[in-house]
Amino acid sequence: MAPSDVTTCLVVDDEPRLRRVLVRLLEGDGFTCREAGSGVEALRHLEQEPVPLVISDLRMPEMDGVSLLREIIRRWPDTAVLMVTAVAEVESAVACLQLGALDYLAKPFHLDEVRARVTQALDKRRLIIENKSYQLHLEDRVQVQARRIEELFLEGVHALVHALEAKDPYTRGHSMRVANYATGIARELGLDEETINTIELGAELHDLGKIGVSEVVLRKAGKLSDAEYLHVMEHPAIGARILGPLLRDMPTAIAIVRSHHERLDGRGLPDGLMGDAIPVEVRVVSVADAFDAMTSERPYRPGLPVARALQELEQMKGGQFDPSAVAAFRRAFSEVTALPIPTPEPHPLRLPVRVLDAGRAFD
Ligand SMILES: [Fe+2]
Repeated sequence: MAPSDVTTCLVVDDEPRLRRVLVRLLEGDGFTCREAGSGVEALRHLEQEPVPLVISDLRMPEMDGVSLLREIIRRWPDTAVLMVTAVAEVESAVACLQLGALDYLAKPFHLDEVRARVTQALDKRRLIIENKSYQLHLEDRVQVQARRIEELFLEGVHALVHALEAKDPYTRGHSMRVANYATGIARELGLDEETINTIELGAELHDLGKIGVSEVVLRKAGKLSDAEYLHVMEHPAIGARILGPLLRDMPTAIAIVRSHHERLDGRGLPDGLMGDAIPVEVRVVSVADAFDAMTSERPYRPGLPVARALQELEQMKGGQFDPSAVAAFRRAFSEVTALPIPTPEPHPLRLPVRVLDAGRAFD
């Protein structure tokens, strides 16, 4: 009996007598059969109504079985094709299998053998289709899992950021503004979209390590002692340590967190990196961070006027800051009267991080 989901078969042979033999056999087994006397006619049938099973002779006028097979595999890949060959044509039959035919039937037909080969070919077809569908759903499942992992990651980072905001609410908004300045600089420098996204993420997270800094020191209104300053300046290394396991695949984002207080002249912290040893992504965020730290109000001083902060950037370029990043900042935010920018709304899909810099490094 034909499987319940497969009832139609197209028999292609230029000899009507041989076609009838197969058709009678298949109809006896529950198939509905269509007949075609050539490859061209077979294609016309398939265009009108694709069928799950085609049994085709190899040698036919107009279009031979191989050409028909190629066309079917290309246009109806889920169709099972069985080739009919003479015993002497085993080599051609094997070539058909390589092209994608599921099996071949040798003439003269032995009915039981035809039945067995047809059943086997249809089983094979079903497995192939199931496998394809499994692969497709597997990809969907992997995507769903990847999205979930990303969500969990964001939730984890949010929890850390909220903890920091609770600890240091005075500086709320800094990281969002730094991310905005940094992406503006990065665009002006012509960096690619992936790099810009990394810079945005790194900028949003750059001060996360302040979660490990004493609240008393963070909120201190007066000048910090040397020991207190060094304690605050542990935040880049702490941040990189916290985020390391979460951002394993994003070493540049980690570098931004760890190195945003490095200086071109090697006098920065925590590693004293110099010049090109500081990645461009980090140099971009350093300029953005410094500008926002200078123009923000602090517990111990009002924010610097924009003109004064720009002057500082100009004076410190080459020593502390990358001159091209400073120049890109000036170009990207040339509307000085619009500076400093207000805290932008967090992008719904980005990390709405509100981590702030106490700005001591620039005092
Ligand atoms: Fe910082």
